[in-house]
Amino acid sequence: MQQQRHNAFLMCPPEHYEVSYVINPWMEGNVAHADLSLAARQWRTLREGIARVAEVREMPSASGVPDMVFTANGGLVLADTVVLSHFRHAERQPEEPRFRAWFEAQGLRVLTMPDDVPFEGAGDALLDRESELLWMGYGHRTGVRAAPLIAGWLDIEVQSLQLVDPRFYHLDTCFCPLEGGYLMVYLPAFDAASQKAITSRVAPHRLIAVGEEDALHFACNTVNAGRHVFLNHASATLRAQLEGKGFEVHVTPLSEFMKAGGAAKCLTLKMTEPRRRAANAPLHGIDGKRRSA
Ligand code: ARG
Repeated sequence: MQQQRHNAFLMCPPEHYEVSYVINPWMEGNVAHADLSLAARQWRTLREGIARVAEVREMPSASGVPDMVFTANGGLVLADTVVLSHFRHAERQPEEPRFRAWFEAQGLRVLTMPDDVPFEGAGDALLDRESELLWMGYGHRTGVRAAPLIAGWLDIEVQSLQLVDPRFYHLDTCFCPLEGGYLMVYLPAFDAASQKAITSRVAPHRLIAVGEEDALHFACNTVNAGRHVFLNHASATLRAQLEGKGFEVHVTPLSEFMKAGGAAKCLTLKMTEPRRRAANAPLHGIDGKRRSA
């Protein structure tokens, strides 16, 4: 289906993970309720699964930043550049210098948001797997002003999507571009205009519309490496859909991380994101304008 190439994912071990505050609806009633030894086993199983098909890089965990295990929120990586996250909630802001230090040690160029623009990294910014396009979510965490800034800095077309259901507070909780140009999506998480933008940009045979049951188990929060997909849950219908498109489905239960509002994809940050066109190709519009070139 797609060419095999080297993939690397950043993960952060859950040594200091716990649900210790409430910043999304999933955390309500779960403070101090995660089974931490089960969490450690679930994380290890996910890590081992991914490591069989891709490289896993680990950054050190730290006390006082329990959500740093969700490395997807550290930043947005494209080629040798990373746009560092600037968290909406004070609870997660102490993660910013830790992610910055790790990215700098990797030799990445680190770009930062203005102080008044929240941006939550690859939680809300997902590169299309087929075209040079960045899908960005806003409405709960990332500010709407992040999209035009990133479009200019990275010289990439951005399609902004408005999230309207508080349970799907990051784009990666309900939306997942897959190799081959496929897209897993829970459409009711978006406003009408965004649903239209999605269905007009993605051909029907490439759209994998996920139902509510799968969506509520964060099936769209999928790690994709080549033809492999790793996810917390897949109904028989969803599994058959994915297998029918050539994907190998690995279900790795992540109940203890769901209590913080995260699953497989949130626990990883893809570090290998090549540009899909030459850097000096013509500029494009942003926010839904199609390329004229
Ligand atoms: N408790 C974390 C938060 O609310 C969970 C983050 C999940 N990450 C993600 N990429 N969706 O920020």
